[in-house]
Parts: sequence; structure tokens; C-alpha cells
Amino acid sequence: MRIDKLLTTMGLATRSEASKAVRKGQIKVNGIIISKSDKKVDPEKDSIEYMGKPVVYMKNIYIMLNKPSGIVSSTDGKDGETVISLLPEELQKCGLFPCGRLDKDTLGFVLLTNDGSTAHYLLSPKRHVSKVYFVKTEFAVTQDDITKLENGISLDHGDTALPAKVEKIGDNELYITIVEGMYHQIKRMLEAVNNKVIYLERVEFGTIPLDTNLQRGEWRYLTKQEIDILLKQTK
Ligand code: URA
Repeated sequence: MRIDKLLTTMGLATRSEASKAVRKGQIKVNGIIISKSDKKVDPEKDSIEYMGKPVVYMKNIYIMLNKPSGIVSSTDGKDGETVISLLPEELQKCGLFPCGRLDKDTLGFVLLTNDGSTAHYLLSPKRHVSKVYFVKTEFAVTQDDITKLENGISLDHGDTALPAKVEKIGDNELYITIVEGMYHQIKRMLEAVNNKVIYLERVEFGTIPLDTNLQRGEWRYLTKQEIDILLKQTK
């Protein structure tokens, strides 16, 4: 693979930044400064240094993004600004996409990846990957409502939600854990108990909590441990 392609695929540089770094002698392959940005490297075997730092090759990218309200969980900007547009330019061209969708007005954890098969497994209803939401409701939630949600509840359009885990933290505030990802699922579950969601935030995905150091609109790479946790759930 060409060194400039490697750096762009990993989201470390744009093509022009890679050529500039080559011109400035800022890229080393196996300890030797390279002079051409089309130099072929084997990312699995060669030791590569970019701007003084070792390049740790990862075939796939996994990103945790703290989605603000008003942003669309999509790669296509026809319905407004997308989660992809919150990433730096070099990462916008790596084929990243959101693993599952949050509504435009929902906030919190969106997993972005370019690993299609892992995303496919994580989204498969058969895998029961858990998602935890912090929910504020218009009306107080009763114990009877909680029992219904915990037993699995009939939704509109003939759907049924599997039993959810519900933790009440205030009259109008809950944590709800679900293992599916039906369209507007949490909103529809609350509608089914004659209530209404007024605030919705995903605070955990696949047992990985949203990093509280990330401000809305900020992102970071998943750590190696977090990636392992996700990959285990696809086996
Ligand atoms: N449930 C919803 O209703 N909306 C979301 O964005 C996610 C889960």
C-alpha cells in the first residue's frame, strides 16, 4: 500500500498533508526518511513514523462520538448536518458510517466505523447488543408503567418491544436498557404507556459507556479494550 494512502485511510493526514510531510522529511519507514509519497509499505510489517510518532496500524476505525441535538445520524447530508461532518476532514474520507441511528433530536453515543461486518453483527436483532438511554418524560412514570416496559410492551404498527431494564431515578427520569433498535423505539415505548419523551440521550452502547469527558459534538477513537469488548459481542 502507498504510504500516503495508509495515512489517509487511518485518518492521520490528508493526501496533501502526507506529501508535505514527505517533503519536510517527517516520515520514516524502518528508520529511514522517505522521499516519495507513493512509497509502497507493508503496514503489518514495516515500522512507520509520522511526525515523530509511530504509526500503529489499524485496519478498521472505531470512533465514539457524542452527538448533539439537530445532527443527522447518516452519511448523507440531504436532511441536514451529519455526524460525519463533525469529524476532521481527513476522517471524513475514510468510509466511516454510523453503526445504528439516533433520531435528529437524540443526543449521545454514536459509534462510527468503517468495519461493515462488525457493524452488521452489532446491529443484528439476534445479537441483543444492549443500548442504555437516559430519558426524561413529560409525565411522571408509575410503577405500573415500569412493569409494562419490563415485561415487553406492544407498540404501534403491530410491533412488540422485548423486555427492557428500567431504572427510575426521578418521577420523570429513567435509564432504559434495550437490546433492539427499532425505529423511534424508546419514544414509542413511552407512548405505549401514555407518556411522551422530552429528552433522550444514549449513554451506553454495547456495554461501553459514553465518555463523560467528551463534550457534545466531540469524538475520540475507541481504546483497544473497548474495541475488544465490541468485537467479542460479534462472535
Ligand atoms: N429510541 C428513540 O426513540 N430514538 C432514538 O434516537 C433512539 C432510540
